[in-house]
Amino acid sequence: MEACKIKQFVQTGKAFGSFFQSKLTIIIFLLAASLLTAGCSDVSPSTLDPKGPGAEEIALIWWVMFGLSAAVFGLVMVLLVIALFRSRSKQTDPNVNEQKLDRWFLIAGGIVMPLIVLGIVYYYAIWGMAVMAAPDPDENVVIEVIGWQWWWEVRYPNQKFTTANEIHIPVNERVKLQVTAYDVIHSFWVPELHGKIDMIPGQTNTFWIEANEPGVYYGECAEFCGIQHAKMAFLVVAEPAEEFNTWLEEQQQPAAEPSSELAQRGFELFFSEPLNCAECHAIRGTEAEGELGPDLTHLGSRRTLAAGIMPNNRGHLAGWIINPQNIKPGNLMPSTDLTGPELQELLAYLETLK
Ligand code: CUA
Repeated sequence: MEACKIKQFVQTGKAFGSFFQSKLTIIIFLLAASLLTAGCSDVSPSTLDPKGPGAEEIALIWWVMFGLSAAVFGLVMVLLVIALFRSRSKQTDPNVNEQKLDRWFLIAGGIVMPLIVLGIVYYYAIWGMAVMAAPDPDENVVIEVIGWQWWWEVRYPNQKFTTANEIHIPVNERVKLQVTAYDVIHSFWVPELHGKIDMIPGQTNTFWIEANEPGVYYGECAEFCGIQHAKMAFLVVAEPAEEFNTWLEEQQQPAAEPSSELAQRGFELFFSEPLNCAECHAIRGTEAEGELGPDLTHLGSRRTLAAGIMPNNRGHLAGWIINPQNIKPGNLMPSTDLTGPELQELLAYLETLK
């Protein structure tokens, strides 16, 4: 049995040996391998498509490291090809002092080159860390973000309101973030704007983000936090100062009153058995002061539902209310068995919360 295995092993080795015996085969193999690893596509959001000073710094370090690695890889490949094509007779040329050459090679390749490469990387890493850590935040815009399984509570303490899953910031302004978590460790990450920051229960970490241009930037949780970790996203909306201030003012308003009879019935449904939505959700200006779920005061102003996983429209909202466990199994919101008319009433009320 053992002998058989050894024989097999030797045969496999021989097959590999003969495969690589031809220099042409090796070159083709290397070219194919480098082509296969070059499959970087145009996926957004990308850390290599920075839209803010934090992400720009990270992208710069990435390119420096990539450039250096490519240069070292290229050099090693050139040496490999030279070694392959060097004939045996030359290798034993009596005029060449092999020992001296070896030592020179060892000092240059083993000491000098790593010192230069690591020195450059070290410089960029230290410089980048200093830039990325620089607080210099506008104290006027402080945002507290709290990670929950699996959504984001967003508070604007100076303006005294709470929202969820959508963060608005003024463009070209460094905004201070204070992040923590309610249950388990999460990580706040907007790839186009900055790096990641851990959100740890019982601890507040300070961070900042800044966007160079107006836009909607995708953010996600970057720390495995349970079965719905992949469905824990959010949006950062960067706006010109005027639009941002209008948004702040709108968010500070209490919730709109039910505007129709249908909405009024939905309002009553919201507070009564068996739904008791107010146990978990807050709606400013009403008696709903629940703290376990997202604040719904201006639900209609948000672009997405259920932490960035689906667009905020009537259809998705209806699906979410009826069976949130089907869409995001394990989340805290229970499924309901509302009748058709009841659902319409509840939707009519929730849609007034603009
Ligand atoms: Cu929160 Cu992963």
